[in-house]
Amino acid sequence: MPRLSDKIVLITGAASGLGKADAWRLAEEGATIILTDINDEGAALAAEISASTGQQTRFFHHDVSDEDRWGEIMSAVIDEFGGLDVLVNNAGIAFIATPEDTTLEQFRLANSIMSEGVFLGCRAAIKAMKLRGGGSIINMSSVASHLGYPVFFAYSAAKGAVRSMTKSIAVHCQMNGYNIRCNSIHAGAIDTPMVQNTFAQMGLDLPTWISKTRMTRSGSAGRKMSQISFYTLPVTNRAL
Ligand SMILES: NC(=O)c1ccc[n+]([C@@H]2O[C@H](COP(=O)([O-])OP(=O)(O)OC[C@H]3O[C@@H](n4cnc5c(N)ncnc54)[C@H](O)[C@@H]3O)[C@@H](O)[C@H]2O)c1
Repeated sequence: MPRLSDKIVLITGAASGLGKADAWRLAEEGATIILTDINDEGAALAAEISASTGQQTRFFHHDVSDEDRWGEIMSAVIDEFGGLDVLVNNAGIAFIATPEDTTLEQFRLANSIMSEGVFLGCRAAIKAMKLRGGGSIINMSSVASHLGYPVFFAYSAAKGAVRSMTKSIAVHCQMNGYNIRCNSIHAGAIDTPMVQNTFAQMGLDLPTWISKTRMTRSGSAGRKMSQISFYTLPVTNRAL
């Protein structure tokens, strides 16, 4: 019996990398999947997942920093599917710039997607999940939120905001008896287009870099997906 057969799941940044892997995995577990992205290849992916798994899927074009669009999409999801059980705030970007090199425009861009976008998603999800009697919010943070990578300065700042925002939301929902869990995932280096592109810009390849660290291997999207499906189940709240 699929573990997520009655779940409605929305994943942002679902057209590539980890979001795409999440969409496949959670559909295989029986969930209905709402994919959103600025990359419209997500529409074909939604159709492919549905054809392969037999699950219902929908794609919405969405820039996660667009507040009004969050409202439109949540209304459409509630109208069409009856509510939302799980939000995966996954959309993100990475670029190389140290604290000295980062422009204000770059800093604002990173934070508009990965900090403001997560805030807007969480706020919209709480509203929808309260109507449903509960739910689970999963925010993609990063080890950068703990370590503060100098060459990914704006990224690290945004992921730090995700980490503390997640704790505030988890406690807020618990104190108010909403039955809404909020967790963040702090992945290291996982082999996706984002990582391949940024490593290529630095003239590095992932296996060589990994071999110079204490890590023995990079992560795979498959291993990280297991975490996502774990947090989708009613088991834990990281901040409590
Ligand atoms: N890959 C890693 O090693 C790693 C480690 C820690 C955390 N993360 C986080 O996981 C998430 C997914 O990363 P990935 O490695 O799969 O990257 P990816 O580049 O493969 O996928 C990111 C997706 O986000 C979408 N996106 C970008 N800006 C957007 C916006 N404004 N609105 C909506 N969608 C937007 C992209 O179009 C893309 O489909 C990111 O938040 C990233 O920071 C990744």
